[in-house]
Amino acid sequence: MTQSRISLSPIDADPVSVDTDCLVIGLMHAAALPGWAGSLNEATGGLLERLREAGELPTSAGRSLMLHEPDGLRARRLLIVGLGKPGKWTEHVYAAITRAAGQAVRASRARSAHCLLPLLEVPGRDDAWKTFQAAIGMDHGDYVYTATRTPRDDDAPPTESVTLPAIDGIDALLTRADAVNAGVRTARDLADLPPNICTPAYLAERATQLAEEIDGLEVEVLEEDAMIELGMNALMAVGKGSVNRPRLIRLRWTGGSGAPYALVGKGVTFDTGGISLKPRELMEQMKFDMGGAAATIGALEAVARMKLPLNVDGVVAAVENMPDAGAYRPGDVITSMAGKTIEVHNTDAEGRMILADALTWTERNSKPAAMVDIATLTGACVVALGHHASGIMTRDDELAEELLTAGLEASDRGWRLPLWDEYQKQIETPFADMKNIGGMPAGSITAGCFLSRFVEDTRWAHIDIAGSAWQWGKPESATGRPVGLLVRWLIDRAG
Ligand code: BES
Ligand code: MN
Ligand code: ZN
Repeated sequence: MTQSRISLSPIDADPVSVDTDCLVIGLMHAAALPGWAGSLNEATGGLLERLREAGELPTSAGRSLMLHEPDGLRARRLLIVGLGKPGKWTEHVYAAITRAAGQAVRASRARSAHCLLPLLEVPGRDDAWKTFQAAIGMDHGDYVYTATRTPRDDDAPPTESVTLPAIDGIDALLTRADAVNAGVRTARDLADLPPNICTPAYLAERATQLAEEIDGLEVEVLEEDAMIELGMNALMAVGKGSVNRPRLIRLRWTGGSGAPYALVGKGVTFDTGGISLKPRELMEQMKFDMGGAAATIGALEAVARMKLPLNVDGVVAAVENMPDAGAYRPGDVITSMAGKTIEVHNTDAEGRMILADALTWTERNSKPAAMVDIATLTGACVVALGHHASGIMTRDDELAEELLTAGLEASDRGWRLPLWDEYQKQIETPFADMKNIGGMPAGSITAGCFLSRFVEDTRWAHIDIAGSAWQWGKPESATGRPVGLLVRWLIDRAG
């Protein structure tokens, strides 16, 4: 179902004579032409210089100018991407323009491209970083969701191949980029699929298919009998109201030695809110509520495809949150797998319920070196950070640093929120060990506090992706975040 990703390869060629559908370059509006552009300018009879003098180079970052059949070049198109203002030029703008370039290349119906964006100077970043990011951004920009619609006349065909200037170590680098692209595509595709298709059983099926397809990737699926047996009452409570029964999925990559690193994803395939029903506006967006599960599956696909020398477990708690005669209710007190009791105050705070048991199970079964959960957990996180950063919560300063660094490195940024004990008070209740909501103040943090109670003694962090999991650019679609951050973190752990 997933459309295939762009095939990536290096070439050592003169840009003037490279045989491609589209040559991609970046130029700063009004700035002097950089050295690498000299030969292109010359070959085109001074075209670049004339565009610059006429003020016709794109001004804002990511806006582009597509020239067809440029005289003097072998390339059939020349795409000039704007870089924005010199003072605002950062590694994150660079990452954004690589995505914009990928989108423009596809829209032009070019089937191949040669991407010279790594020739740009990027503050603090070397050729390897720029090349990797371009390989990822171009593929990101090429993604178009088509699974459930009839083809349209103006659908552009996918770009088939992108070449990049050869540098030292580029083969290994492109292999890794390709693996990340595969994982990101899977994550986006799963999150974009409608909730009547992408059910808990469907997630289990796709995870199983991946395990069949990729050598050494193993899968295990628990159905409800097994979960009831294990006492996963918090997870099962959320699933009670739906005919689409819950699944617990574990993908396992054993590429190294030692305790695995564990990812735990929230896989609410549709979140109506349950008996605490959500308002009708934008409820359809809640198909994205399995974004954490999608990122977990995508990250496992990526580490397996790149054969990362590390052990990694990806656990997905998949349920649908529906209102029904059998649904759990506000006021219910549920005994979690860990034996802790939870008073339900709002059935719409379901993510933390399912993650509670998933964290307990993962900690006990995988005995991980570190455990990171990923969840579209709170609307409050969208209020706090918008769509640009994922919310990272942990009491472990070192782990916070690792994740923040990975996010910067992958241009898939996180931002830390505190998990101070003082916030724990907000989830106290006379009727159980805790309640499942903490009131209006610091809604993302009290959700994190709730989760923290289900981790015994493992290094653990929680990533709230409610804002970052979608709305990067147009057309609206899942972003595949934070696959980039997670895979970077795991690569760093593999050393
Ligand atoms: N899936 C939602 C969180 C969400 C909201 C993600 C909007 C993306 C956009 C989650 O299950 C939820 O409903 N959270 C509640 C918690 C509240 C009841 C304490 C929320 O954020 O309103
Ligand atoms: Mn909810
Ligand atoms: Zn939810």
